[in-house]
Amino acid sequence: MSEKKFYITTPIYYVNDNPHIGHAYTTILADVLSRYHRVEGDEVFFLTGLDEHGQKVQQAAEARKLSPQEHCDDLAPRFMQLWEKLEIQNDDFIRTTQQRHVTVVQTVLQKVYDAGDVYSDEYEGWYSVAEERFITETEKESGEFRDVKKLKERNWFFRMGKYQQQLIDYINDHPEFIRPEHRRNEVLGFLRQPLGDLCISRPKSRMGWGIELPFDKDYVTYVWFDALLNYITGPGYLADDKNFQKWWPASVHLIGKDILTTHAVYWSTMLFSLGLPLPKTIFAHGWWLTGDTKMSKSLGNIVNPLDLIDEYGIDSVRYYLMREMVLGQDANFTMASFVKRYNSDLANDFGNLLNRVSGLIGKNFDGCVPDAGQLTPDENDIKDEANRLEARVKELIGELRLNEAIEETLQLVRRVNKYLEHQAPWKVAKTDLTRAGTILYTATEALRISAVHLSPVIPFKSGAVLDVLGASGTDPQWGGLKAGTKLKSHEALFPRLEVPK
Ligand code: MSP
Repeated sequence: MSEKKFYITTPIYYVNDNPHIGHAYTTILADVLSRYHRVEGDEVFFLTGLDEHGQKVQQAAEARKLSPQEHCDDLAPRFMQLWEKLEIQNDDFIRTTQQRHVTVVQTVLQKVYDAGDVYSDEYEGWYSVAEERFITETEKESGEFRDVKKLKERNWFFRMGKYQQQLIDYINDHPEFIRPEHRRNEVLGFLRQPLGDLCISRPKSRMGWGIELPFDKDYVTYVWFDALLNYITGPGYLADDKNFQKWWPASVHLIGKDILTTHAVYWSTMLFSLGLPLPKTIFAHGWWLTGDTKMSKSLGNIVNPLDLIDEYGIDSVRYYLMREMVLGQDANFTMASFVKRYNSDLANDFGNLLNRVSGLIGKNFDGCVPDAGQLTPDENDIKDEANRLEARVKELIGELRLNEAIEETLQLVRRVNKYLEHQAPWKVAKTDLTRAGTILYTATEALRISAVHLSPVIPFKSGAVLDVLGASGTDPQWGGLKAGTKLKSHEALFPRLEVPK
């Protein structure tokens, strides 16, 4: 038991639409990592929430003929209910319209202003309405920005450029700060160009939905300057110093690759200005694609997590999303790969192992776990492998190699299935019941240990396995399964699915 502190965050999602699978992915990922850390004995603070200000939200509200606040109050529960349904165990849920956050944003703005890091200037440039920010000439020429118009405006600027070298040095000195490696290189590449200052205000006359600047009531705060601060509002910056000191800096900010610059550059320089330490790691994951394109509302290819859950169950969805994506790379969501993964790992390997051992123990031992008896080298190999898994899973989770942690656990399950085929306890039972008992104890104990390791990913089904084995709350070291325990009857854990046509 390491008993460290682990503070993990997700991006706060824009409340311009219903949550989709991309949002569900990051939130489940944060939940799974939190649960692994809790199992390891760490103290965890897991923060998620909603980004409620800015133009996108304002426009979404206008389209629905609601005030922005009414719109947010209407959509917020949809996110919260989805997280509940997905068994997300977050410790806090932040909404940027909450007073605690407004206070932090305004106090921070005043601090940064007093420190001389904010100035007012007239600026003329290309403004992307869709992206809600001024873009450079090169960006405009790339043709990737919609709704671009020339805009001349007086605004407030944050002296971001002044921290450029400090940030480059920091990134070079802290290899674990931006991950994976290729994202770190991307940020360093971006920082090779002169870093300009950041426009942090929007005139109310043009865009009114935001937090008012404490030093200029004609302006509201740029949505990113507001949103990033949620990570310090959550643990109690300026409100609960003890709690804040306890949790800050965050262990991991999980983000999608599209919001890397805002986190690695805007957020870091804001923290420099405030004199606060930077988060230990910013981890940018890839996108879920459908048929090689990003899911988006405009393309109409969004996978709705609720539909999937209703049809296949929460654990199957959690498992697929966690196992299928190599952290840091894109992954392609298809129903065919969903069903394939479900059938191979959950139905054939994990679910089948439970069916086999409980069936054989039912038939030959009256449903009671047999004695472990005398282990031969075959059993000792399995025992050693199962015991080694705890350190290995911990190491992989520490390195955010989640899909590998899951795969190594499944390898144990597969190995035990093979062991059963090879040992054929159903035959052995006819001549040597003691030996058959040893084989079944070994297989069942390895199943129990696998279930413990999978419980952060598939909490319900792992919980069900442990319940059948009378082993809820046991740890992942050999010997937790007690001989004589009467197994509970159960249904098939993961019934096989038909392959979609
Ligand atoms: N509100 C900002 C984040 C502010 S954090 C201080 C935002 N919100 S968002 O709702 O547009 O996106 C939130 C996250 O969802 C981003 O990390 C984004 O990468 C992620 N995803 C959106 N679509 C996705 C996929 N198709 N696949 C995986 N993640 C995706 O940006």
